[in-house]
Amino acid sequence: MDHFNYRDGELYAEDVPVASIAERFGTPAYVYSRATLERHYKAYTGALSERRLLVCYAVKANSNLAVLNVLARLGAGFDIVSAGELERVLRAGGDAGKVVFSGVGKQEWEMRRALEAGVRCFNVESDTELDRLNAVAGELGVKAPVSLRVNPDVDAGTHPYISTGLKENKFGIDILEAPAIYARAATLPNLDIQGVDCHIGSQLTSVAPFLDALDRVLELIDTLAGQGIHIRHLDMGGGLGVTYNDETPPQPAEYVRALDERIGDRKLELILEPGRSIAANAGLLLTRVELLKCTEHRNFAIIDAGMNDLIRPALYSAWQAIVPVQPHQDAEEKVWDLVGPVCETGDFLGKDRALRLKAGDLLAVRSAGAYGFVMSSNYNTRNRPPELMVDGDQVHVVRRRETIEDQLAPESCLPE
Ligand code: LLP
Repeated sequence: MDHFNYRDGELYAEDVPVASIAERFGTPAYVYSRATLERHYKAYTGALSERRLLVCYAVKANSNLAVLNVLARLGAGFDIVSAGELERVLRAGGDAGKVVFSGVGKQEWEMRRALEAGVRCFNVESDTELDRLNAVAGELGVKAPVSLRVNPDVDAGTHPYISTGLKENKFGIDILEAPAIYARAATLPNLDIQGVDCHIGSQLTSVAPFLDALDRVLELIDTLAGQGIHIRHLDMGGGLGVTYNDETPPQPAEYVRALDERIGDRKLELILEPGRSIAANAGLLLTRVELLKCTEHRNFAIIDAGMNDLIRPALYSAWQAIVPVQPHQDAEEKVWDLVGPVCETGDFLGKDRALRLKAGDLLAVRSAGAYGFVMSSNYNTRNRPPELMVDGDQVHVVRRRETIEDQLAPESCLPE
């Protein structure tokens, strides 16, 4: 459920007509809804009453300071994958004590910074990373809290680029090798074993693969208990899918309760790292039709947003709904390819969309709040769009539109 709805024949973001946002701030522009972000976060936190649950929003999905701040105010934790993301969380008022640090390639300086900030846990992804973290913690004279990210070898049934829990992926430690690696971790003086972590993929639309992974992880936790290693928390990562088109993923509460039930009597805190399911449907990309170009073979609507602004269609053949902001009957319905101004054939945001279009129309690319702006680039020296957050009847600029000066500032010519 989100707060982008049609009222009086036009699209609203909460209480603001989306067309008025285009008038004030121009296009293309990312538009987020605060109420939707809050609603999605609470859909997780409200699900359990008995077990401790820490929801660590995956910052990579949408790392705008205002997004992080909205969640921090609700007491959220955060899942980070770089020191840069940590700085964002701290700047947004997040609590380092609720931060988990994931990622296969943490550098020493990043570990140091995270230890100094006092993060809740490092999700360690390899044997060699354990040694690196042990050494950095030793230099600082502290103990680093760790979980090992294990790879339960389940097929998440999602796009190969976003599936991470299979043996052939670069992520995590083979679950069969985990007992030996935990045993070694327990001998390293500057590590404090806290948990077990896994993340099997993204945009999962059923609970079954999560439960398969969970069963294997619980078995590991029981084995470790037999080795005298007591695990306090279980981090199941992110991955719950959203409705882009006609997918019917489980609701967060249903998913969380299924996990809780399976964990049973074990005294484990549950940590989750949702990104997409909190942010995706809390944002849209607002764009205007520049030109219509009908050829013998295809009808192209050339819009002012391109693959540099939203790369998911080009990169993953992702389908996102594209809807008129002010639906009208002034043109006949045709099947359109919605293409951007970038010089690449892959520069499309949607293909074969039946729409009534005329030049100047506003369109909204839905479900663009996650992996949208964060994956944007300046390709073709295009200024990245602004990010705007709607809160009731207010619109806040939470990142202004880039200028050409912003883009050129770090560059220079060779000396004369
Ligand atoms: N935790 C870890 C360790 C992750 O690698 C990810 C996502 C998450 C949590 C959050 O997963 P989510 O709840 O958002 O599914 N750019 C792709 C998605 C890449 C996901 C990478 N990892 C896309 O646009 O579909």
